[in-house]
Amino acid sequence: MNKNKLKMFDLTNQYSKLKPKISTSVQQVLESGQYILGQNVIKFEKNLSKYIGSKYSISCNSGTDALILSLMCLGITREDEVITSPFTYFATAEAITLCGAKPIFIDIDKDSFNINPEKISQAITKKTKAIIIVHIFGQPANMIEIKKICKKFNIKIIEDCAQSIGSKIKSMKTGAFGDFGCFSFFPTKNLGCAGDGGAIVTSNKSFAEKLFKLRNHGGVNRNNHEFIGMNSRLDEIQAAILNVKLKHLDSFNRKRNEIAKLYKRLINNKNIKLPYHSKNNYHVYNLFTLQVKNRDKFCKYLNKNKIPFGIYYPTPLYKQKSLKKICSPKKLPIVEKITKECVSIPMFPELDYDSIKYISNIINKFK
Ligand SMILES: Cc1ncc(COP(=O)(O)O)c(C=O)c1O
Repeated sequence: MNKNKLKMFDLTNQYSKLKPKISTSVQQVLESGQYILGQNVIKFEKNLSKYIGSKYSISCNSGTDALILSLMCLGITREDEVITSPFTYFATAEAITLCGAKPIFIDIDKDSFNINPEKISQAITKKTKAIIIVHIFGQPANMIEIKKICKKFNIKIIEDCAQSIGSKIKSMKTGAFGDFGCFSFFPTKNLGCAGDGGAIVTSNKSFAEKLFKLRNHGGVNRNNHEFIGMNSRLDEIQAAILNVKLKHLDSFNRKRNEIAKLYKRLINNKNIKLPYHSKNNYHVYNLFTLQVKNRDKFCKYLNKNKIPFGIYYPTPLYKQKSLKKICSPKKLPIVEKITKECVSIPMFPELDYDSIKYISNIINKFK
């Protein structure tokens, strides 16, 4: 371990291990001359739906597009409201506003940092059409409770699984609970490609048929556009890389769990709260997020000791300049507190024991 070379994410290490297979697959694409919507995309879509346990999978250009396409598929538009979490990446709420709808933010659970199901009913109005559930940092939200509430009020569920691919509640994978499961293959995700990529899974045939059209200018063939859609296609090179990596995803997620276990065993500083993990859930630790009261001091201390970190996320989304105007913000106490205290430390499957030990020792000495 070289403490000057510690990274928050290390993408090159994983690539080196898979290099022969990835190189061959990419070379085959380049030689085939078929770069868009070819056999690799078809194969990846089949592999992904089988992996998640959904009937259909529709690949697209990014996790953001997966969310937009799902909202478009539901016909979400102006005057509609979509409930979501204020503690997530901006893209979740951005997708709602791009469709013209209003994001309605509700508070999160203090331990899991996921949407608090008890707050959903109070936020439902006649305009509520859907809810986007984010499984933040790889920890599944309480889908059992959420599904009961959404069924009662006839609200569609879009799961934002950008950070949670492979995570489960009992034996069911996130993405398979809702009407739509949206995935991101951004390079730092648990299943990352070498650029942007995304996908939607669904078990509803008519949604799937519409999504295949929406991601390709509203039609499945040229000059026949049933809907106003998008150009949002996963390209063949990314699909070829994802086909190689998907086979290793479970082992990457197991490594992340081993690292999380080690951090939890080694970090014993009373000023630091470690991530919560429900016994019913299989968490996949896209991020390992601590809670620290004196965050500024802690971050300066990590900097001084050359430990990389990230603040996911420093602001409740309703405080973003671009959203303030739209969503008439009301302060939500738990997210206000968590956004002031959260700090994520290095987490990627190839993080070695010496680095974990070093990081934990430094954190333990923080006063
Ligand atoms: C929770 C969440 N939703 C959506 C996205 C957007 O995914 P993408 O970057 O592939 O558009 C991300 C990516 O960071 C994310 O973390």
